[in-house]
Amino acid sequence: MDCLDIARKAALEAGNLLKGYLGKVGEVEYKAKNSLVTEADRIAEDLIIEIISDRYPTHGILAEESGIEREESNYLWIIDPLDGTTNFTHSYPFFSVSIALEIDGELKIGLVYDPMKDEMFIGERGKGALMNDKEIYVSDTLNVEESNLCTGFIHTADWMVEENLRHFGNFIRRARAVKRDGSAALDLCYVACGRYDGFWELGLNPWDTAAGYLIVEEAGGRVTKLRGEKYSINDQEILATNGKIHDEMMNVLTLGRGNISGESIVKD
Ligand code: IPD
Ligand code: CA
Ligand code: CA
Repeated sequence: MDCLDIARKAALEAGNLLKGYLGKVGEVEYKAKNSLVTEADRIAEDLIIEIISDRYPTHGILAEESGIEREESNYLWIIDPLDGTTNFTHSYPFFSVSIALEIDGELKIGLVYDPMKDEMFIGERGKGALMNDKEIYVSDTLNVEESNLCTGFIHTADWMVEENLRHFGNFIRRARAVKRDGSAALDLCYVACGRYDGFWELGLNPWDTAAGYLIVEEAGGRVTKLRGEKYSINDQEILATNGKIHDEMMNVLTLGRGNISGESIVKD
Protein backbone atom coordinates (compact mmCIF):
# COMPACT_ATOMS: atom_id res chain seq x y z
CA MET A 1 0.00 0.00 0.00
CA ASP A 2 1.34 3.45 -0.87
CA CYS A 3 0.66 6.74 0.90
CA LEU A 4 -2.55 7.44 -1.02
CA ASP A 5 -3.96 3.98 -0.27
CA ILE A 6 -3.15 4.40 3.39
CA ALA A 7 -4.80 7.84 3.49
CA ARG A 8 -7.86 6.43 1.74
CA LYS A 9 -8.12 3.51 4.16
CA ALA A 10 -7.73 5.80 7.18
CA ALA A 11 -10.35 8.28 5.91
CA LEU A 12 -12.87 5.55 5.07
CA GLU A 13 -12.50 3.79 8.39
CA ALA A 14 -12.64 7.01 10.40
CA GLY A 15 -15.60 8.29 8.36
CA ASN A 16 -17.58 5.11 8.92
CA LEU A 17 -16.79 5.25 12.60
CA LEU A 18 -18.09 8.84 12.77
CA LYS A 19 -21.24 7.90 10.90
CA GLY A 20 -21.95 5.30 13.57
CA TYR A 21 -21.70 7.97 16.27
CA LEU A 22 -24.10 10.41 14.59
CA GLY A 23 -27.09 10.98 16.85
CA LYS A 24 -25.27 9.27 19.78
CA VAL A 25 -22.64 11.89 20.41
CA GLY A 26 -22.50 11.68 24.23
CA GLU A 27 -20.54 14.19 26.27
CA VAL A 28 -19.40 17.36 24.50
CA GLU A 29 -16.35 19.22 25.84
CA TYR A 30 -15.44 22.83 25.16
CA LYS A 31 -11.89 23.64 24.00
CA ALA A 32 -12.95 27.31 23.84
CA LYS A 33 -16.23 29.15 23.37
CA ASN A 34 -18.11 27.34 20.56
CA SER A 35 -15.10 25.12 19.92
CA LEU A 36 -16.36 21.63 20.65
CA VAL A 37 -14.76 18.22 20.90
CA THR A 38 -16.45 14.85 21.36
CA GLU A 39 -15.35 11.30 22.06
CA ALA A 40 -15.85 10.61 18.33
CA ASP A 41 -13.25 13.28 17.34
CA ARG A 42 -10.67 11.61 19.58
CA ILE A 43 -11.43 8.01 18.64
CA ALA A 44 -11.42 8.86 14.92
CA GLU A 45 -8.11 10.70 15.29
CA ASP A 46 -6.51 7.77 17.19
CA LEU A 47 -7.69 5.38 14.48
CA ILE A 48 -6.22 7.50 11.65
CA ILE A 49 -2.89 7.92 13.46
CA GLU A 50 -2.73 4.19 14.18
CA ILE A 51 -3.32 3.27 10.52
CA ILE A 52 -0.69 5.76 9.29
CA SER A 53 1.88 5.04 11.99
CA ASP A 54 1.59 1.26 11.59
CA ARG A 55 2.65 1.62 7.96
CA TYR A 56 4.95 4.64 8.32
CA PRO A 57 6.30 4.66 11.89
CA THR A 58 8.85 7.43 11.22
CA HIS A 59 6.53 9.92 9.50
CA GLY A 60 5.55 13.13 11.32
CA ILE A 61 1.94 13.74 12.32
CA LEU A 62 0.11 17.02 12.93
CA ALA A 63 -3.37 16.24 14.20
CA GLU A 64 -5.95 18.64 15.59
CA GLU A 65 -6.64 16.96 18.91
CA SER A 66 -3.21 15.53 19.77
CA GLY A 67 -0.78 18.06 18.26
CA ILE A 68 2.52 17.33 16.53
CA GLU A 69 4.84 14.34 16.78
CA ARG A 70 8.05 13.27 14.97
CA GLU A 71 8.50 16.84 13.70
CA GLU A 72 11.99 16.02 12.37
CA SER A 73 10.62 13.79 9.57
CA ASN A 74 10.49 15.00 5.93
CA TYR A 75 6.98 13.60 5.82
CA LEU A 76 4.13 15.33 7.65
CA TRP A 77 0.58 14.01 7.76
CA ILE A 78 -1.92 16.76 8.57
CA ILE A 79 -5.13 15.41 10.04
CA ASP A 80 -8.55 16.75 10.98
CA PRO A 81 -10.42 13.63 12.12
CA LEU A 82 -13.78 15.39 12.16
CA ASP A 83 -14.19 18.69 10.36
CA GLY A 84 -17.60 20.05 11.29
CA THR A 85 -17.86 19.00 14.94
CA THR A 86 -20.62 21.52 15.64
CA ASN A 87 -22.76 20.07 12.85
CA PHE A 88 -21.95 16.56 14.06
CA THR A 89 -22.91 17.39 17.65
CA HIS A 90 -26.33 18.54 16.43
CA SER A 91 -26.81 15.48 14.18
CA TYR A 92 -26.56 17.75 11.13
CA PRO A 93 -25.14 15.44 8.46
CA PHE A 94 -22.45 17.67 6.96
CA PHE A 95 -18.95 16.89 8.21
CA SER A 96 -15.80 15.24 6.91
CA VAL A 97 -12.47 13.61 7.58
CA SER A 98 -9.49 15.52 6.17
CA ILE A 99 -6.02 14.05 5.64
CA ALA A 100 -3.11 15.66 3.79
CA LEU A 101 0.51 14.67 3.27
CA GLU A 102 3.36 17.15 2.98
CA ILE A 103 6.78 15.96 1.80
CA ASP A 104 9.72 18.33 2.33
CA GLY A 105 7.25 21.12 3.05
CA GLU A 106 5.23 20.63 -0.15
CA LEU A 107 1.66 19.32 -0.14
CA LYS A 108 1.53 16.15 -2.24
CA ILE A 109 -1.74 14.45 -1.33
CA GLY A 110 -5.05 15.84 -0.05
CA LEU A 111 -8.05 13.71 0.78
CA VAL A 112 -11.44 14.68 2.21
CA TYR A 113 -14.16 12.12 2.90
CA ASP A 114 -17.83 12.81 3.50
CA PRO A 115 -19.17 9.59 5.06
CA MET A 116 -22.81 10.66 4.84
CA LYS A 117 -22.75 10.98 1.06
CA ASP A 118 -19.93 8.48 0.62
CA GLU A 119 -17.98 11.07 -1.37
CA MET A 120 -14.20 10.81 -1.40
CA PHE A 121 -12.34 13.84 -2.76
CA ILE A 122 -8.67 13.38 -3.68
CA GLY A 123 -6.05 15.78 -4.97
CA GLU A 124 -2.57 14.62 -5.93
CA ARG A 125 0.06 17.22 -6.81
CA GLY A 126 0.35 17.41 -10.60
CA LYS A 127 -2.21 14.65 -11.20
CA GLY A 128 -5.54 16.46 -10.88
CA ALA A 129 -8.50 16.06 -8.55
CA LEU A 130 -11.09 13.30 -8.23
CA MET A 131 -14.41 12.66 -6.56
CA ASN A 132 -15.11 8.95 -6.20
CA ASP A 133 -12.49 8.29 -8.88
CA LYS A 134 -13.98 10.72 -11.44
CA GLU A 135 -12.10 13.86 -12.46
CA ILE A 136 -13.54 17.07 -11.05
CA TYR A 137 -13.13 20.68 -12.12
CA VAL A 138 -14.11 24.05 -10.75
CA SER A 139 -17.14 25.83 -12.22
CA ASP A 140 -17.20 28.13 -15.25
CA THR A 141 -19.15 30.90 -13.55
CA LEU A 142 -17.80 34.26 -14.66
CA ASN A 143 -19.16 36.69 -12.08
CA VAL A 144 -20.22 37.00 -8.46
CA GLU A 145 -23.76 37.89 -9.49
CA GLU A 146 -24.32 34.34 -10.77
CA SER A 147 -22.29 32.65 -8.03
CA ASN A 148 -23.16 30.25 -5.22
CA LEU A 149 -20.71 31.20 -2.46
CA CYS A 150 -19.83 29.82 0.95
CA THR A 151 -18.08 31.05 4.07
CA GLY A 152 -17.48 29.96 7.64
CA PHE A 153 -17.70 31.95 10.85
CA ILE A 154 -15.20 31.66 13.64
CA HIS A 155 -16.49 32.97 16.98
CA THR A 156 -13.30 33.23 19.00
CA ALA A 157 -12.31 36.83 18.16
CA ASP A 158 -14.87 39.64 18.03
CA TRP A 159 -12.99 41.57 15.34
CA MET A 160 -13.25 38.57 13.00
CA VAL A 161 -16.98 38.28 13.59
CA GLU A 162 -17.45 41.98 12.83
CA GLU A 163 -15.31 41.81 9.70
CA ASN A 164 -16.97 38.65 8.44
CA LEU A 165 -20.43 40.06 8.98
CA ARG A 166 -19.46 42.91 6.66
CA HIS A 167 -18.14 40.45 4.06
CA PHE A 168 -21.27 38.34 4.41
CA GLY A 169 -23.53 41.37 3.89
CA ASN A 170 -21.49 42.56 0.93
CA PHE A 171 -21.73 39.18 -0.79
CA ILE A 172 -25.42 38.65 0.07
CA ARG A 173 -26.13 41.91 -1.78
CA ARG A 174 -24.13 40.85 -4.83
CA ALA A 175 -24.19 37.05 -5.22
CA ARG A 176 -26.91 34.58 -6.16
CA ALA A 177 -26.53 32.81 -2.79
CA VAL A 178 -24.20 32.68 0.22
CA LYS A 179 -24.04 29.59 2.47
CA ARG A 180 -22.43 28.76 5.79
CA ASP A 181 -22.11 24.99 5.73
CA GLY A 182 -19.78 24.31 8.66
CA SER A 183 -17.00 22.06 7.34
CA ALA A 184 -14.22 24.12 5.76
CA ALA A 185 -12.54 21.01 4.30
CA LEU A 186 -15.74 19.99 2.54
CA ASP A 187 -16.56 23.57 1.56
CA LEU A 188 -13.24 23.68 -0.31
CA CYS A 189 -14.06 20.40 -2.07
CA TYR A 190 -17.40 21.87 -3.12
CA VAL A 191 -15.44 24.67 -4.83
CA ALA A 192 -13.25 22.02 -6.47
CA CYS A 193 -16.22 20.16 -7.97
CA GLY A 194 -18.14 23.27 -8.99
CA ARG A 195 -20.97 23.15 -6.43
CA TYR A 196 -19.63 26.41 -5.02
CA ASP A 197 -17.96 29.08 -7.13
CA GLY A 198 -16.07 30.61 -4.22
CA PHE A 199 -15.35 30.21 -0.49
CA TRP A 200 -13.68 32.49 2.03
CA GLU A 201 -13.01 32.19 5.74
CA LEU A 202 -11.02 33.88 8.50
CA GLY A 203 -9.48 32.06 11.46
CA LEU A 204 -8.71 28.58 10.10
CA ASN A 205 -5.98 26.08 11.01
CA PRO A 206 -3.70 23.91 8.79
CA TRP A 207 -5.77 20.76 9.42
CA ASP A 208 -8.94 22.53 8.18
CA THR A 209 -7.47 23.53 4.82
CA ALA A 210 -4.41 21.44 3.85
CA ALA A 211 -6.26 18.73 1.92
CA GLY A 212 -8.97 20.98 0.46
CA TYR A 213 -6.44 23.59 -0.69
CA LEU A 214 -4.58 21.03 -2.83
CA ILE A 215 -7.86 19.58 -4.15
CA VAL A 216 -9.06 23.05 -5.29
CA GLU A 217 -5.75 23.80 -7.01
CA GLU A 218 -5.67 20.41 -8.72
CA ALA A 219 -9.26 20.97 -9.92
CA GLY A 220 -8.12 24.16 -11.67
CA GLY A 221 -9.12 26.67 -9.00
CA ARG A 222 -7.22 29.50 -7.37
CA VAL A 223 -6.37 29.83 -3.66
CA THR A 224 -4.92 32.96 -2.03
CA LYS A 225 -5.26 35.01 1.11
CA LEU A 226 -8.23 37.39 1.09
CA ARG A 227 -6.33 40.16 -0.66
CA GLY A 228 -4.61 37.96 -3.19
CA GLU A 229 -1.32 37.27 -1.40
CA LYS A 230 0.18 33.78 -1.71
CA TYR A 231 -1.58 31.34 0.61
CA SER A 232 0.11 28.87 2.94
CA ILE A 233 -1.71 26.43 5.24
CA ASN A 234 -0.28 28.35 8.20
CA ASP A 235 -2.28 31.42 7.15
CA GLN A 236 -5.56 31.77 8.96
CA GLU A 237 -7.48 33.36 6.08
CA ILE A 238 -8.32 31.78 2.76
CA LEU A 239 -10.05 32.68 -0.48
CA ALA A 240 -10.65 29.74 -2.83
CA THR A 241 -12.49 30.18 -6.12
CA ASN A 242 -12.93 28.87 -9.62
CA GLY A 243 -10.30 31.47 -10.63
CA LYS A 244 -12.71 33.42 -12.83
CA ILE A 245 -14.44 35.27 -9.98
CA HIS A 246 -11.29 35.57 -7.83
CA ASP A 247 -10.48 39.21 -8.54
CA GLU A 248 -14.09 40.26 -8.16
CA MET A 249 -14.32 38.48 -4.81
CA MET A 250 -11.07 40.13 -3.70
CA ASN A 251 -12.54 43.54 -4.56
CA VAL A 252 -15.66 42.84 -2.50
CA LEU A 253 -13.51 41.57 0.41
CA THR A 254 -11.54 44.84 0.28
CA LEU A 255 -14.76 46.73 1.01
CA GLY A 256 -15.27 44.83 4.29
CA ARG A 257 -11.73 45.09 5.66
CA GLY A 258 -11.50 45.91 9.33
CA ASN A 259 -8.96 46.84 11.96
CA ILE A 260 -8.17 44.84 15.09
CA SER A 261 -11.08 46.52 16.92
CA GLY A 262 -13.42 45.16 14.29
CA GLU A 263 -14.19 48.57 12.76
CA SER A 264 -14.36 49.01 9.02
CA ILE A 265 -11.32 50.77 7.56
CA VAL A 266 -12.98 51.48 4.25
CA LYS A 267 -15.09 54.61 4.28
CA ASP A 268 -18.32 54.62 2.27
C1 IPD B 1 -14.36 23.95 11.94
C2 IPD B 1 -15.07 23.82 10.62
C3 IPD B 1 -15.92 25.05 10.35
C4 IPD B 1 -15.10 26.31 10.41
C5 IPD B 1 -14.36 26.42 11.72
C6 IPD B 1 -13.49 25.17 11.95
P1 IPD B 1 -13.87 21.75 13.39
O1 IPD B 1 -13.54 22.82 12.21
O2 IPD B 1 -14.14 23.70 9.57
O3 IPD B 1 -16.52 24.99 9.08
O4 IPD B 1 -15.97 27.41 10.25
O5 IPD B 1 -13.54 27.55 11.66
O6 IPD B 1 -12.84 25.28 13.18
O7 IPD B 1 -13.60 22.47 14.69
O8 IPD B 1 -15.26 21.32 13.25
O9 IPD B 1 -12.85 20.69 13.11
CA1 CA C 1 -11.64 21.60 11.37
CA1 CA D 1 -11.94 18.88 13.89
